[in-house]
Amino acid sequence: MPDDMAKSTQNKIVVSGFRHVFETDDGPVQATDRVDLSIRAGEFVTLVGPSGCGKTTLLKALAGFIRPTEGSILCDGATVLGPGRDRGVVFQELAILPWRTVRRNIGHGLEIARVPRAAREATVGRLIELTGLAGFEERYPHELSGGMRQRVAVARTWAADPDVILMDEPFAAVDAMTRLTLQEELVRLCGATGKTVFFITHSVDEAVFLADRVLVMTRRPGRIKAAIDVPGRAAGRDWESFKIDSAMQAIVEQVLRLVREERGATAPAASAAVTK
Ligand SMILES: Nc1ncnc2c1ncn2[C@@H]1O[C@H](COP(=O)(O)OP(=O)(O)O)[C@@H](O)[C@H]1O
Ligand SMILES: [Mg+2]
Repeated sequence: MPDDMAKSTQNKIVVSGFRHVFETDDGPVQATDRVDLSIRAGEFVTLVGPSGCGKTTLLKALAGFIRPTEGSILCDGATVLGPGRDRGVVFQELAILPWRTVRRNIGHGLEIARVPRAAREATVGRLIELTGLAGFEERYPHELSGGMRQRVAVARTWAADPDVILMDEPFAAVDAMTRLTLQEELVRLCGATGKTVFFITHSVDEAVFLADRVLVMTRRPGRIKAAIDVPGRAAGRDWESFKIDSAMQAIVEQVLRLVREERGATAPAASAAVTK
């Protein structure tokens, strides 16, 4: 097999038996329970599950912000020991700097990494185009809508060119109409840049729309309960066709059922029944 072909099919991220316990004043809180998952290079994986089931905990461990209580997290075959340039993060809360213009926010990481000005401007210019921010380069965050600001956050993460992008409900605070546009743009951006993406959402529609594969987590302590393949992302997606595509809508229904089982499940017996 040629080198680059082997590369495109290999696992970028491998999580094995990831268990995390937070020590709190009220005693230990077990957030996750033996999470196993692999993400292939270039794959877009979304994660859904009930609130408080451990999704953000898993993302933070992938980012290297927290260390597993048990189990291991590998990126490119090496144990994740802390944050790294190979992994970029986009959170729901805006993480852009109010005193910097759009252009200088997007280029911020590159300035810190001392990328020469010409290369920096080329990258920033390309991302401004790709994220629909053309014409807004010299604006400050307070002069932008919420959707525009989130585009800046996305562009800034992409600018640093990490292999892996970790996104935690990045569009949750954006109004519903803008969200649809941002989701379509994200599909295009990922198509153009081939990143490996791990994306958390509480919207099942969003999870299926964006993904090559949707993971469903159980209620806390979270485990991966199911993985559902979603064909055809490479060909691009738009909401108009997605909504009338019966195969896609069947997947949405399937994921909804799996998530609802976890929301409804309270007794251990119920949880055993849904893991079959
Ligand atoms: N820093 C922390 N200290 C103590 N408990 C935490 C901390 N972060 C998360 N938790 C707890 O861990 C569980 C999982 O949280 P989280 O991963 O944020 O869930 P999700 O993102 O799925 O909503 C919750 O019960 C939450 O209260
Ligand atoms: Mg969360």
